[in-house]
Amino acid sequence: MAALYDDQASPARFENWIDNKYQPAANGDWIDSSDPSTGKRWALVPDGREQDIDQAVQSARRAFREGPWRSMANAERARLLRKVGDLVARHAAELASLETRDNGKAIRETLPEIGAVAEMYHYWAGAADKIHGDTVRVGPASFNYTIQEPIGVVGAIIPWNSPLSLLAAKIGAALAAGNCVVVKPAEQAACSCLCFGQLFEQAGFPPGVINLVAGLGEEAGDALVRHPEVGKITFTGETATAKIITARSADTLKRLAFELGGKSPNIVFADADLDAAAAGAVAAVFTGGAGQTCIAGSRLLIERSVYDDLIERIGRIAEGIRPGDPQDPNTAMGALAFDRQFEKVRSYLDLGPTEGAEIAFGGRSGAELFEAGSPQAGGYFVEPTLFRGAHNDMRICREEIFGPVTAAIPFEDEEEAVAIANDARYGLASGVWTQDLKRAHRMVAAIESGVVWVNSYRRIHWALPFGGIKESGYGKDSGLESLRGYLQTKTVWLDLA
Ligand code: NAI
Ligand code: MG
Repeated sequence: MAALYDDQASPARFENWIDNKYQPAANGDWIDSSDPSTGKRWALVPDGREQDIDQAVQSARRAFREGPWRSMANAERARLLRKVGDLVARHAAELASLETRDNGKAIRETLPEIGAVAEMYHYWAGAADKIHGDTVRVGPASFNYTIQEPIGVVGAIIPWNSPLSLLAAKIGAALAAGNCVVVKPAEQAACSCLCFGQLFEQAGFPPGVINLVAGLGEEAGDALVRHPEVGKITFTGETATAKIITARSADTLKRLAFELGGKSPNIVFADADLDAAAAGAVAAVFTGGAGQTCIAGSRLLIERSVYDDLIERIGRIAEGIRPGDPQDPNTAMGALAFDRQFEKVRSYLDLGPTEGAEIAFGGRSGAELFEAGSPQAGGYFVEPTLFRGAHNDMRICREEIFGPVTAAIPFEDEEEAVAIANDARYGLASGVWTQDLKRAHRMVAAIESGVVWVNSYRRIHWALPFGGIKESGYGKDSGLESLRGYLQTKTVWLDLA
């Protein structure tokens, strides 16, 4: 089995994938991609701009209007998607290692994640030949029906925290619906997405159906958002960026789907299984991508009578979670993805105490965590950190930190827990820990969020719709509901009179 890329090259070089060919950016410029575990450059990705995006969109448009994709039977499209899943499974170790190298996430997480990516392509293969409209009886004088058609060219803008999962969620659904896509991966971690081009070709996708163009958000991303031939933008990233995209896409009136930030409440009642809740709190914000997930349980709401007890239990588990070399299968927590993200998270470690919160455990980062001379000393590591004595008005409780940092907020009763949980501009996810079934259902109804976990946290599955409300966005990734977001309805009235 041939390697997908040359991992001995220094720096490794990844090119854009347009019209089933690898090519550098038209201007010949490159962006450095760092290895977050050392802080050193390890790869180059193209600094794509408007010209590259336009070339990719034209290729996608040709494939949609004229190419073999247009006339391909749905079962055949399904076969291609299935083949991609098979190829991902075959190359899982290499893809996981590549993603870990590029964004610093522990291989212990990326490996199962790539396993799930293979399943996602299989899931979307299963959906591709199950697209149909309705017949509607209006009266005897007409025959009325609807057709579900693809939108055309879909633009997908992807962040750096889970590139291959998000690529699969977005383009799996878009392709199953019959669209062609132009993907703009994040400039900080584009390598695994760009590497995927060859897998799409090997699976048999015709030129233009899938294009991958790396570049800066404000350049390549913005060009995609403004392009008149792009019918929809699906975006995962920061809420502030989604607002810019909304404004910049107004001229061409695009369809938009946004999966954005969160400040998700993880709520523990005194009657909960506290050991399970402690383990859940750790998985919610420390080990999951070192807290760089939109669903991180970054507000830990704890009923006052068990506040100290739970924090102690969490601290005991967190003690065993040391950040380290992400490629080592024993490492439970990797690095933050790039320098700016590292600095952002560290700024909140400084901010918490000035707002009156106290560091219960953690607080160290970077070189403080490693012996001098260790390669990881230059990496972007932050240890699991919990602020106690936090109040929901503090900035550490209102702003998305996107790192292994959580703020423990005490509450008196259910009513107060709901009030604090919902006092946020975000509404992505939430967790409820209780053994009282009635309370669990009351909480599910009362919490303003797109996802609620009961006695668990951070569980996602490709068959379940995923997405937020409020400023966490709208439109779903995953599940058959997301397929509808990539289709448009044509209504037919056939006169019988
Ligand atoms: P971002 O929203 O700026 O970047 C995400 C993607 O959007 C990247 O591909 C980027 O190139 C692109 N982009 C940026 N500006 C754009 C524009 N004007 N037009 C079109 N595309 C654009 O997020 P960033 O700056 O990487 O991270 C900042 C913060 O955002 C993080 O600290 C975190 O709080 C949040 N975030 C949330 C994510 C989530 O999963 N919901 C993922 C990544 C970041
Ligand atoms: Mg940004």
